[in-house]
Amino acid sequence: MTATLDTPKFELKPYKSLSNEELQSRIQKVRDEMGSKLLILGHHYQQDEVVAQADLLGDSYQLSQMAANSSDCRVIAFCGVHFMAETADILANRPEKLEERAGQRVQVILPDMAAGCSMADMAAIDQIEDAWDQLGEVLDTEDITPVTYINSAASLKAFVGRHGGIVCTSSNAQAAIEWAFARRSRVMFFPDQHLGRNTAMGMGITLDKMPVWDPFAEELGGNTAEALEQSKVILWKGHCSVHQVFRPEHVDLFRKQHPGIKILVHPECPREVFELADEYGSTGKIIRTVEAAPPGTKWAIGTELHLVNRLKQEHPEQEVHFLSPVVCMCATMYRIDLAHLCWSLENMLAGTPVNIIDVDEETARWSLVALERMLEVN
Ligand code: 13P
Ligand code: SF4
Repeated sequence: MTATLDTPKFELKPYKSLSNEELQSRIQKVRDEMGSKLLILGHHYQQDEVVAQADLLGDSYQLSQMAANSSDCRVIAFCGVHFMAETADILANRPEKLEERAGQRVQVILPDMAAGCSMADMAAIDQIEDAWDQLGEVLDTEDITPVTYINSAASLKAFVGRHGGIVCTSSNAQAAIEWAFARRSRVMFFPDQHLGRNTAMGMGITLDKMPVWDPFAEELGGNTAEALEQSKVILWKGHCSVHQVFRPEHVDLFRKQHPGIKILVHPECPREVFELADEYGSTGKIIRTVEAAPPGTKWAIGTELHLVNRLKQEHPEQEVHFLSPVVCMCATMYRIDLAHLCWSLENMLAGTPVNIIDVDEETARWSLVALERMLEVN
């Protein structure tokens, strides 16, 4: 699903010893040459030097919209992680867009192919298909809507598209689950158990109706047939290693040391932290919440470190803390740096593109079905 030419004109190694100033000026040269044909998209968890290069910055939902709406560009350099670049490829090259551009594709580049997502890796397509088959032994799968978090491989999105399901992001998970229940009486939610649980509990679904499917269990994901029959939402046993570090003790500590502090968390946080929080939301919502708060507001924020540090710098009128004594950032997002960005852009300009994300036609077709539903629901 990904293609890389074997003989790039430029090797990566020399770029690693260049200064940031040199890399910035070389990236600017590529920009000058390409103009509006190049679009650099960046997720809010990227490091500051990379954020400074982004034409558009967003959370997962906003970035999907930006890729879907892109018109002039012929190349998207995606400063984020692999599943985001796959999504951009599918949306930017969907049939109506290809028709608009007389068949010309947008090339999507992920500057470092090692920028994956450990949560997305917790659900492989063969595990999902196996779970679906096993569920079919005890339940009517025609009555289950599969919902995949966007943090998943394109093959899972295609599975969901084929089976009447929907993709969601952290900003529209509730609307997506409502969409799913309007059609069938049960939901299977993967790969993030926390987003699924936090969202479904907010909709009044109780824990006894949310069994967790462990793909490594011998049978029925470690559940009894009765537990599955009683279920409303079957949760996949996956999580984000970054958001998993926040603990209730951290909330207690901040409340004790900073009276009046507000706890603001991402819904990928575990339930026991989420339920102690004052406010929650996707990355975009977290930013908007801090922006809208009056001066002097104190926050302890449970999400990726680079974003929290940026909020701290951008809002000196407020007091912003990272909700953990342990430094924890998204190591895979962090793989994208100026050296990889410059290297991939210069190779693209030289006609020897590297790290192109090219989702195969069949997978893209079915993923698109589920992604278009996601974009309609918010
Ligand atoms: P959002 O961008 O939807 O907030 O998701 C956060 C995340 O973990 C991205 O991988
Ligand atoms: Fe994946 Fe978590 Fe990193 Fe997001 S923050 S890319 S979910 S590992």
